[in-house]
Amino acid sequence: MNREKIEQTLVLVKPDALKNSLTGYVLSQLSEFHTGLRFAGAKIACVSRMLAEEHYAEHRGKVFYPSLIEYIMGLLHYPDAPERRRIIALVYQGPDAVQKIRDICGPTNPHVAREKRPGCIRALGTVVPLKDAAGNDVGERMDNLIHASAADDEAEREIKLWFRPGDFPPFMRSYLTEINKEEHYYFKDNNLYMTHEPGSVCLIAPGDVVWKSDFDVLRSMQQGLPAAAPLASVAAKYLINYTAE
Ligand code: CDP
Ligand code: MG
Repeated sequence: MNREKIEQTLVLVKPDALKNSLTGYVLSQLSEFHTGLRFAGAKIACVSRMLAEEHYAEHRGKVFYPSLIEYIMGLLHYPDAPERRRIIALVYQGPDAVQKIRDICGPTNPHVAREKRPGCIRALGTVVPLKDAAGNDVGERMDNLIHASAADDEAEREIKLWFRPGDFPPFMRSYLTEINKEEHYYFKDNNLYMTHEPGSVCLIAPGDVVWKSDFDVLRSMQQGLPAAAPLASVAAKYLINYTAE
């Protein structure tokens, strides 16, 4: 197959956009008519803690991190309605996809977005004060309606985190894949098993198409060697919509 390098980017329509019924608006801002970009992948996902923590791993330890995880899981916007907790994950592709979508989203902070880029998507967001147990202000959480990959390498990591190769039409898979020949890979309590354990989930079976980079992680783990990425970053996509947690 002769494939040109295709630029792709990940978009998440966050729970505040769903709650405020801004989905249609966001999608029309990102439409091919405005951006020249095409849909490559799409799913509605109930975001598990494992997926949320992997997605925002770079922010672990920051003051807003615990609140950010609750936000993307939908716990803050739908505290009493677990069935409404979900996001829309989209992959767009085309020339300059990453930068084009970042530009339409605008600055991370909705206050800054309103000031500097009125009309951008994030200008419709809000900023929520964060308090410690004693009620003192410790920072802010930015409810900015949309996530978009910030750079090409981030896009690759994030797309592979949320999507498996089979989620894309064959000509829209832009990263290397492999077909799993004979092994079964099972997952339970953040551990990898090669044979079925009671309560484990089969992530990958013979014949499945797998990201090559995920395979490399699994093979390293099988051999007891250090892996390039955590097991959770491989497993999370296979568990999307499996259970609510
Ligand atoms: O999303 P973006 O790449 O523009 O920003 P980021 O710095 O990677 O932060 C990820 C997300 O964390 C933001 O989109 C905000 O929702 C949230 N955030 C926050 O709540 N408070 C901050 N001080 C910074 C980021
Ligand atoms: Mg970011």
